[in-house]
Amino acid sequence: MLAGLSAPIPAIPARWLYDRRGSELFDEITRLSSYYPTRTEVALLQTIMPEVAASVPKGAAVVEFGAGSATKTPMLLEAVEAAAYVPVDISGDYLEQSARELQRRFPSLEVIPVIADFARPFALPQEVKNLPKLGFFPGSTIGNFVPWSATDLLRSFRALLEPGARLLIGMDRVKPVERMLAAYDEPQGITADFNRNLLTRINRELDGDIPLDAFRHEARWDEILSRVEMHLVATRDIEFSISGQKFRFAAGATIHTENSHKYGPRGSRVLLLAGGWTPVAEWTDGAEDFAEILAVAEPERFAP
Ligand code: AVI
Repeated sequence: MLAGLSAPIPAIPARWLYDRRGSELFDEITRLSSYYPTRTEVALLQTIMPEVAASVPKGAAVVEFGAGSATKTPMLLEAVEAAAYVPVDISGDYLEQSARELQRRFPSLEVIPVIADFARPFALPQEVKNLPKLGFFPGSTIGNFVPWSATDLLRSFRALLEPGARLLIGMDRVKPVERMLAAYDEPQGITADFNRNLLTRINRELDGDIPLDAFRHEARWDEILSRVEMHLVATRDIEFSISGQKFRFAAGATIHTENSHKYGPRGSRVLLLAGGWTPVAEWTDGAEDFAEILAVAEPERFAP
């Protein structure tokens, strides 16, 4: 983290945004009218579930990358008549709690939470080894990874779930810039709080003395890279220290805190193919704001 802050383009990995307060703020963001991805995906999933269920073997183990959403996950588990559910998340507390709630709702489902960073190698529980697998990666979380890392991540999902598995993944679509920016910088200032909470967290956990009023939130669109970026912009010249290390920021200098890549139809399919997943079905809402793609890990074969 400190290395990132002193890099030529100062940046902090986006996963630092999610301490307890950050997760609460993200939850609030998902309920904002300007933040279209969550409600659009929920409505889309509701519509397509019968078709998803028809393309997935019954009695599969659903492996969700992330702790799971109270609305999206039950819909999928019910539709595909899952035999087992394996949520994978780094935050043990949150994971155990959401797993308990799901177990209550689906008493005969085998719920096996795995505490792990899904971006690093981990093993599936022995109990699901022989079941068909369905990976679930909703929310456009894939968009928070630069394409290079996103490809690595998809390849690691393939290695974990093995050929024959399916993956249901949500990806946010490119749309008019004003709408994308409005989703990341709204008048209520919740996304600004979410971004600036990072500084509070650094001060608390890494013995920092960053003056909180010296940074403001900014959302930017990068047309070439097709992504919304979140930055913290220094509003004046400042000096501060973190864990005894000194940092100096001139007014206008920024800390890059998050990328949220948006994909067109072709881009999303190429990304999946590069990660070892062959798209077999794709759905969008009427406005084509958000896409849900079902892909298969085909066995490797010699290219023609
Ligand atoms: C979790 N992730 C998909 C969100 C996004 O849209 O990139 C995180 C977020 N950042 C600001 N608002 C929402």
